[in-house]
Amino acid sequence: MLLPYKELDCPDVDKISADIWKFLNDQTDIMSDRSIGKNFTWNFFSPKDLITNVPSLDAWFSSIGLRLRDVAATVTRTNKGLEAHKDEPPVLAKINFPVINTKDTWNLWWDDDGNEVGRIQMIKPLAFNASMTHGVEMGPNCVYPRVVLSCMFMKQPLHLLQVP
Ligand SMILES: [Fe+2]
Repeated sequence: MLLPYKELDCPDVDKISADIWKFLNDQTDIMSDRSIGKNFTWNFFSPKDLITNVPSLDAWFSSIGLRLRDVAATVTRTNKGLEAHKDEPPVLAKINFPVINTKDTWNLWWDDDGNEVGRIQMIKPLAFNASMTHGVEMGPNCVYPRVVLSCMFMKQPLHLLQVP
């Protein structure tokens, strides 16, 4: 049995988030394409470009023994939230990294009987159990666009989700 999520300590999270935000705006079309953000689709882009432009993110991943394999930006510009679902295998464990406007937006997890087993605002990066049913709720005070990076690794960080 794995935890639904675990908050991770990242001392430079605010600076790294700001650098990712600048990268997404300056080096990709994801933020300028206004058709993106009506729902929570994954917008994949080059992990190599990301770590070249935001080396502090790669340094933090290295510090916890992870090498980035794939990365996608989830962008939302509406209050619809994201319905309960499980991600497609083989992704069980990933890291979701806050980029901008994650305050008053809530990640939720449920067990197989529909009981809520986790609820958190993403202020810090999260080790994220994507094999457990999960979704997102937007609170009344959230600000758009909300942007989060879904980060997948050469070796899935299942160890971060072990029950202590
Ligand atoms: Fe998901």
